[in-house]
Amino acid sequence: MADEAPVKSKVFTLASGPGAKVTPEPMTLVIFGASGDLARRKLVPAVYGLWQDGQLPPLFSLVAFARHPKSDEAFRGEMREAVAKFSRGRTVDAKAWEAFAERVHYRVGDYDDPAAFRALGAQLDRQAAEEHRPANALFYLATPPQTFPLVVRRLGEAGLSRAGAQAPPWSRLVIEKPFGSDLSSARALNEEVLRVFDERQVFRIDHYLGKETVQNILVLRFANSIFEPIWNQKYVDHVQITVAESGGVEQRGPYYDHAGALRDIVQNHMMQLVCLVAMESPLSLAADAVRDEKAKVLRALRPIPAACVPEGLVRAQYAAAEARGKRVRGYLEEDGVAPGSVTETYVAMKVLIDNWRWAGVPFYLRTGKRLAARLTEIAIHFKPIPQVLFGAPGRGPVEPNVLAMRIQSNEGITLRFQVNVPGPAMQIEPFQMDFGYAEVFERAAPEAYERLLLDAALGEPTLFTRGDEIEAAWTFLQPILDGVRQCPVRRLPSYPAGSWGPAEADALLEADGRRWSLVRRPAKTA
Ligand code: BG6
Repeated sequence: MADEAPVKSKVFTLASGPGAKVTPEPMTLVIFGASGDLARRKLVPAVYGLWQDGQLPPLFSLVAFARHPKSDEAFRGEMREAVAKFSRGRTVDAKAWEAFAERVHYRVGDYDDPAAFRALGAQLDRQAAEEHRPANALFYLATPPQTFPLVVRRLGEAGLSRAGAQAPPWSRLVIEKPFGSDLSSARALNEEVLRVFDERQVFRIDHYLGKETVQNILVLRFANSIFEPIWNQKYVDHVQITVAESGGVEQRGPYYDHAGALRDIVQNHMMQLVCLVAMESPLSLAADAVRDEKAKVLRALRPIPAACVPEGLVRAQYAAAEARGKRVRGYLEEDGVAPGSVTETYVAMKVLIDNWRWAGVPFYLRTGKRLAARLTEIAIHFKPIPQVLFGAPGRGPVEPNVLAMRIQSNEGITLRFQVNVPGPAMQIEPFQMDFGYAEVFERAAPEAYERLLLDAALGEPTLFTRGDEIEAAWTFLQPILDGVRQCPVRRLPSYPAGSWGPAEADALLEADGRRWSLVRRPAKTA
């Protein structure tokens, strides 16, 4: 008789590296730009989430550094509201909050004022001495990007960078995106940062890398034996990556109008997704082993030469439209957007990777604001079978297999394959096999910022982008940006808010005999 014992799943936990469960050493997190939106919506709620879950050391403290005068009490009150609104659980445990709030201090200072940085250093030393611990510090740059070099310089001048230190106290630097606005500014920023800090102290954030489902790309590929042998040009026809947002630019018009979708999403989140899908297996999970392989992908991207209409690239802008009975504003009507702006809110592009594994396999990327839904999906479209057996006249070709990874929302993996519909005649139809995180795991995934803050506090850099990766991504994008700058246009193609993008993006794939498709069904609640 067959063994009918249920198959037990085994949880594999890493002893070190990303995924390890360890508590950071006693330390102070200093958030520069603490009165800004990022601190309120993401950083402080994430730090509090970690504290409430007992993932931070008891001797953890937070110094909120910003330019506007404010009392500790006022800042704590604002942050309590922010935590209630934006933290993972949306709950504030009164006792945990009280203990946390006591360890939160507000410090007013100008980023240009060396004395403010010396005073900050004295505060860190004083608190550490009182608590009999080293003055370990994690500096988080959540200020406007143009101030990054200044703050870094001031930290260095105040002796707070501790480059080369082999023993505690240590200092680390977390830098928010955007890291530069083009290749030369990214290079200059890297130089500036590395004059003051060692690369191993620098944590450049791309919050996509903190998403649980993004990390799962590596697990799917390298912890299973069935996918890797077919993950190449022999079996893969093409890859589609969609990063769609239903929201518009909201309050970020002035920033976005200078950035556009190429800088805001393609240069960072999208390139990182391409890397994880396309990279070779790293020699280990050590940070540099993983980042070496990602950097190789970026260096293998086939350049798209500067041109007025760069080949394989579509840029577009959302236009006002009626959605669910409500009028949605067009991009040009958004606050902070320059009249007649030609900043793109949508990009579709065809990317080729010139290496052995991916030769001739197009990666089609698309991203946009105000699209029909908020979702991120990577779909591997396999080559069609030879249509000799089932593709007889009258039956039509048999659809190729597709493996889709839904990064958000309704996170999961879907495999589409063919089955025979029961009945007297052979009738082949595609069927989808689904794995959904929410259905399988009861525990909610941690927020990306929680994961990344914890890793930075632990000094674990795998999920952060290295300086050369960032420069390689800008190197790829630079000719495209040059082409756009050199050939000003009066308007861009448009797409109605709430649609799936412009007709030009459909034409991009149709020219190759393909079409955009989303594989995984939408979330039930969506
Ligand atoms: C940010 C971009 O990096 O990512 C935003 O600046 C964008 O414009 C956001 O909305 C999307 O992140 P997520 O996690 O909501 O997909």
